[in-house]
Amino acid sequence: MDKIIIEGQKALSGNVRISGAKNAVLPLMAATLMVNGKSRITRVPDLRDVRTMIRLMEIIGADCKYSNGTLVVDGSKVDNPVAPYELVKTMRASFYVLGPLLARFGEVKVSLPGGCAWGPRPVDFHLMALKKLGAKIELEKGYIVARSNNLTGSKIKFKYPSVGATGNTLMAASMASGTTIIKNSSCEPEIVQLCEYLNSMGASISGIGTKDIIIDGVKGLTARNVEVIPDRIEAGTFLMAGAVLGEITLTDANHFHLNEVIEALRGVGCQFKLSENSIKISPSKNIIPKNVITDVYPGFPTDLQAQWMVMMALSNGTSELTDTVYHDRFNHVPELNRLGADIKIEKNMAIIKGVSNLIGAPVMSTDIRASASLILGGLFAEGLTEVNRVYHIDRGYENIEEKFSKLGANIQRVSS
Ligand code: EPU
Repeated sequence: MDKIIIEGQKALSGNVRISGAKNAVLPLMAATLMVNGKSRITRVPDLRDVRTMIRLMEIIGADCKYSNGTLVVDGSKVDNPVAPYELVKTMRASFYVLGPLLARFGEVKVSLPGGCAWGPRPVDFHLMALKKLGAKIELEKGYIVARSNNLTGSKIKFKYPSVGATGNTLMAASMASGTTIIKNSSCEPEIVQLCEYLNSMGASISGIGTKDIIIDGVKGLTARNVEVIPDRIEAGTFLMAGAVLGEITLTDANHFHLNEVIEALRGVGCQFKLSENSIKISPSKNIIPKNVITDVYPGFPTDLQAQWMVMMALSNGTSELTDTVYHDRFNHVPELNRLGADIKIEKNMAIIKGVSNLIGAPVMSTDIRASASLILGGLFAEGLTEVNRVYHIDRGYENIEEKFSKLGANIQRVSS
């Protein structure tokens, strides 16, 4: 199993190119299953989750060719609308095939995802929405089986603006008869890109990027090409590194998707130079403690909570970090404390007392963003840090050790 070894406290400088977004490419890939033709997706990051999605799509019958960041999907032979447990249990985003395959085949069988590393993560909103569109949903031996030969537009209101449930509903409703209104929908940039992609394929979606999305169903969609938006979470992770370790510039990045994060980093003492496609951060000489509450877009993303926490661990005071999206997403805390951080959890809030130095130690990843925070911890800490179970990081970060090495970090992957 690979580990990442870091000798910390090396200054960073230079440019790093941001990859295409994991959470944008996965639903775009699922959308290609709706059409009988060849779709090309560019700027596809080489991630374990992308490879898992390709495997799943091949089982479903799609022909997928992936090289040099370009994925070509031929959906003409798609004939097996089933997402098996073996894949869904390793990647919950497999659930994204539910809406598209139901729309195309009138029947789909997808393993019900179990809990994840930090909590139950239910799928009840997805199922409620598909039922509202007229699908009959049954649980058969751990699989959700959804059936309908006549999906019909409806008014759907989510209790919470779920990203995945909005995505699944959008895809199913695009080919339903009549109009669907999704109230309290997600407005994350990844959902905006999915809406725009579906429209380019012939769907009729309006209210894009707002809480009320309207979908006028169409009979069929046509294969189209798309370039994945930059990964705002990867970008945010590099910004937290720059905040502590040196002036760096993110290229091919979109600062409009990171307004809240950039404002928070300004509050910590960092300075920015922003241009159309790049973000330059100058570090804070003395990290100022700042409270943060995660929220849905355009709020501070839960996917940057762990990375923010490790930066706050080095602040010159006490701060609070509350996660309102996932109340239990704190598996990284005991590992960060192994590096000498002083963090306590009270319900869904972390109370972080800044320390003057972190000291390297062996630590263990538990999920994608927790691993990113441990890598940052290793870069900030004095001496050697060994991050174990790095397959979690490979699910969501493309060449992370190469990117940090190029910026001047002493970081390497070793296989054992
Ligand atoms: N929720 C329900 N019922 C549902 C769906 C969601 O109660 O049917 C709750 C969840 O338990 C959670 C909240 O609603 O408390 C938000 O969950 P959401 O459905 O928005 O999350 P998701 O679609 O499962 C995506 C990202 C996550 C990211 C969240 C929140 C993808 C593939 N995943 O998950 O990304 O944390 O949105 O922004 O897009 C990651 O990249 O590390 C990651 C976990």
